[in-house]
Amino acid sequence: MVQRFGDKHLGGDFFQTLRFEGGIDDCEVLGEIPSDLHGTFYRLGGDWAYPPKYPHDVPFSADGYISMFRFANGRVNYKGRFVHTPRYLANRKAGGQLFGIYRNRGGDDPSVRGLSSTMSNTTPVIHAGKLFATKEDARPYEIDPHTLETRGEYDFGGKLTSLTFTAHPKIDPETGEMFAFGFEATGEASTDMYLYTIDRSGKITKEVRVQAPYVSENHDMAISKTHVVIPHFPLTTTREWLAASPENLHWYWDERLPGYLLVVPRNGDAKDARWIKGPPHAMGHTLNATTEGSKLILEGTVSNANPYPFFPNRDGSPWTPMTGGATIRRWVIDLDSRSDGWEEQNLFPAQSGGLPRMDDRFITLPYRYAYLGYTDFSRLGPPSSGAPSFPPTNTLGRFDLRSGKSETLFLGDSGSLQEACFAPRNAKAPEGSGYLLGVLSNFAERRSELLVVDAQKMQEVGRVILPFQIAAQVHGAWAPHAQVPFEA
Ligand SMILES: [Fe+2]
Repeated sequence: MVQRFGDKHLGGDFFQTLRFEGGIDDCEVLGEIPSDLHGTFYRLGGDWAYPPKYPHDVPFSADGYISMFRFANGRVNYKGRFVHTPRYLANRKAGGQLFGIYRNRGGDDPSVRGLSSTMSNTTPVIHAGKLFATKEDARPYEIDPHTLETRGEYDFGGKLTSLTFTAHPKIDPETGEMFAFGFEATGEASTDMYLYTIDRSGKITKEVRVQAPYVSENHDMAISKTHVVIPHFPLTTTREWLAASPENLHWYWDERLPGYLLVVPRNGDAKDARWIKGPPHAMGHTLNATTEGSKLILEGTVSNANPYPFFPNRDGSPWTPMTGGATIRRWVIDLDSRSDGWEEQNLFPAQSGGLPRMDDRFITLPYRYAYLGYTDFSRLGPPSSGAPSFPPTNTLGRFDLRSGKSETLFLGDSGSLQEACFAPRNAKAPEGSGYLLGVLSNFAERRSELLVVDAQKMQEVGRVILPFQIAAQVHGAWAPHAQVPFEA
């Protein structure tokens, strides 16, 4: 008898594990899939192959599950597989959960001491012809871009000395370089951060080592034409905290600590790195950074305090959407000034969401649009059976960062939208000319559906129907056919 497990944070019983690896060719489609949508939409998220040992474990502990929707000639194929990490394979052999709570090895079964505990469940990254499953607690895992088989841990030919690698590297669309970093680079709760430049052929060409003022969940980064910038906020940990109890999750929010921005010139070295001190606001995800004269302009989604309801506050205070909810904000850093602080503008304070995306062809460049799913509370319907306890993402918005205006698409009240990614119509299309791709959890029909939305009209044009529910996505990535070619 297979034990059924519904993750209490991710969604009632809708996200019960399926333990399904396989696919569907020529999926059922409602509406029309545009013929110029030619490529692969990769998704990475977590699916619990086995229930966690501790009931208060968090969705970030779920096993990596990579899936893809492949588009050609108006037709779509779907495929999904677990990322076969050492952890997944050990659990599968044992037929149960051998690992402790989120990133605390104190609760591990003795048989897995020394074995990597990463779930590799955060972002699919495509660079230099390779597909990676990434997670910030470990090195990437290389994935076959067609079969989704796991090829193994990847260390860039031995040049990646950091034990960890961000789930949010950034690729300069003009140079093809990938910028990345690892935090806790030399081990759990270490303050070592290693920054990397990787050329368009996939070779590490530069490493910069810096020391952080404290350990932070440096989840995302941004690059401008001139600088690398990494938000640093007081979601923190220490070796003492981890050792104190096997029930302690890796992270807690320490409201006493300041926030920082790590700013490093792209052509600079460790001596040029600056830690600019500021308020303890968390930019959990970035959109983009641009350099304009002496100003570095960074946009992303920011919360005033702990962004995660499931990681505790040090002072015991409860999480609230008022302080933890993220909104799209602009941070302006004066590169000429040697003083601390930056200017913050809350651009769309009424819409709260933590998974913003843009047209990634415009990374480092002037751009206009952010895309973000959020909850429109004025249109909330009655909760569906099996739905999560938190409000569903019922609206997809396109936010014009220049005019301050937004266009929205209401998605009904039977489901919740996961992160929506942008796919351009073609390589030369202007910014925003393309489609938004996002999976809707249809609680009422108990299945997952991929929405294809015209990003200019903000209208749905087609919907791929899967006859079952699939693992929740954390992040997705669009690979045009020219980047990852396949036979249709
Ligand atoms: Fe992320």
